[in-house]
Amino acid sequence: GETFLVTAGPTREPFDPVRFITNHSSGKMGYAVAIMARRRGARVILISGPSSLPPPMDVQLVAVSSAREMRDAVMRHLDAATVVVKAAAVADYRPAVQARQKLKKKPGPMAIELERNPDIIAEIGANKNGRIIVGFAMETEDLLENARAKLETKNMDLIVANDLQEAGAGFQNETNVIRIIDREGSIESLPLMSKMEAANRILDRIKCLLMAKT
Ligand code: CTP
Repeated sequence: GETFLVTAGPTREPFDPVRFITNHSSGKMGYAVAIMARRRGARVILISGPSSLPPPMDVQLVAVSSAREMRDAVMRHLDAATVVVKAAAVADYRPAVQARQKLKKKPGPMAIELERNPDIIAEIGANKNGRIIVGFAMETEDLLENARAKLETKNMDLIVANDLQEAGAGFQNETNVIRIIDREGSIESLPLMSKMEAANRILDRIKCLLMAKT
């Protein structure tokens, strides 16, 4: 009876018709959550930035490119969702100007001005409506402090933290090393495992929260 809204993958922020700013996200963690949530019987809407992964079976896939497109797609589908899992690596900034023609090189250095993108999970957190919201934090330093601060300021129920410096964790790997932090501040530290298994552990925690609500 639950409907999961899952976001995954990177976003692309173009500055001319041939170039964009992005990050190394593969989409694997978010797709794993979508696949496993579906296997457990939930209806799943997967909003994905550009990814080379195959569309998961029996999941409603909404393909987007930029952070603003992702935000619009999330808002369009939010009403249906009882659980939101925001695994996407959303670009915090986009080029302030998008040239209509390809930019030509000139002598000397070049600068691109960036402006802020909407913070999608903060917007959802400000208007929760009983929904369970799970965010992700990828850090390279002060993992737990940064993750706790994000959980608090963005009004999440759980945050899944991973440290890019840790062996086996991170973007392109099949594996991850995650810590799940809740609103009480307790930290569940999990060993190296596949992203599919990590998705299951995250879903176990979501299930506990759902059961506590009924
Ligand atoms: N997120 C989002 N919209 C954004 C940026 C991030 O919804 N514009 C979500 C991500 O999907 C993730 C969580 O916020 O679930 C944490 O993202 P992260 O980029 O690590 O956090 P920021 O708050 O952007 O902090 P910083 O980049 O300064 O570490």
